[in-house]
Amino acid sequence: MQLKSIDIGAFKTRNNVFLAPLAGYTNCVFRQMCYDLGAGLTFTEMVSAKGLCYNSANTRELLQLTPEYGGIKAVQIFGGEPSYMRRAAESEELAPFDVIDINMGCPVPKIFKNGEGSALMADIPRAQAVVREVVRAGKPITVKFRIGLTPEHLVTRDFARAMEDAGASLITIHGRTRDKIYSGPVNFDEIASAKAAVNIPVIANGGVFSLKDAEELMAQTGADGVAVARAAMYNPFVFCELTGTPEPDKKAVIGRQIERTFSCFDERFATVYMRKMLSFYIKGMPDCSRMKAELFRCSSRGEIEEVLSRINF
Ligand SMILES: Cc1cc2nc3c(=O)[nH]c(=O)nc-3n(C[C@H](O)[C@H](O)[C@H](O)COP(=O)(O)O)c2cc1C
Repeated sequence: MQLKSIDIGAFKTRNNVFLAPLAGYTNCVFRQMCYDLGAGLTFTEMVSAKGLCYNSANTRELLQLTPEYGGIKAVQIFGGEPSYMRRAAESEELAPFDVIDINMGCPVPKIFKNGEGSALMADIPRAQAVVREVVRAGKPITVKFRIGLTPEHLVTRDFARAMEDAGASLITIHGRTRDKIYSGPVNFDEIASAKAAVNIPVIANGGVFSLKDAEELMAQTGADGVAVARAAMYNPFVFCELTGTPEPDKKAVIGRQIERTFSCFDERFATVYMRKMLSFYIKGMPDCSRMKAELFRCSSRGEIEEVLSRINF
């Protein structure tokens, strides 16, 4: 993997291997861990612009930052109404963030029906209006989108150009259509055609689970970098492999994740979340089913730590 720094407005990432947003997973502790393991940039999960305008408590929790986070702080917001998106971008809650990413790829029906997420790909003028308004907040704006809604109607290159024209500083392209959700092959050619059509950095996303996958995605698309989602959820140490960062002791890193998660979030959330994360991390191990069952019986930090102490990474 050819590592390089990426310019996002006046900011320079430390490398071009990014952690993509994952709703329910990329909280501040997880982002910190991935950054420490080598990720060049991390994003919060998608946060509703309307939720921000109405000051919902849920939304605020998604925007927590760990005090020691040393990287560029990027938040992802979603919404289909330019005025709300700008208000959200200018809100006090987003003040600590350096970069604002706009979600134009979310396939979930509830979001789509509201004209948000991937629905914006079917309405380029509105998508541009959203970006133009958010740019007025004065921060570098990035956009994450897909190659189209269906394979019959691919819009990648036009959409990429439209985002650049509207003022986006970087785009991330998930090389699948909305109807495929997260499965099926990634369309390298579509990402390549968008990359050739714009002057802003293009990050390719989809199907990176190993160094070989990342190198193929880069080679086939000519992209400036890659964004990794599910691989990080199952194995955050993938960032060591992708960036050549020496792999630290896995148990110690996960132990720290447990400690920080319990200190940043309430006990109920932290218990459920860490049970789930550990069950991802042990996937494929010989004893996996038995340990998973044990994990799901855990009801405290101590019990989760006890299971961790018996895992052979
Ligand atoms: C559980 C889950 C939650 C996701 N949440 C978001 C999100 O909040 N914002 C976003 O732009 N994409 C989201 N995605 C999409 C990923 O960022 C990524 O585009 C997709 O998973 C393809 O990358 P991958 O093949 O590396 O997983 C989510 C994906 C999954 C599986």
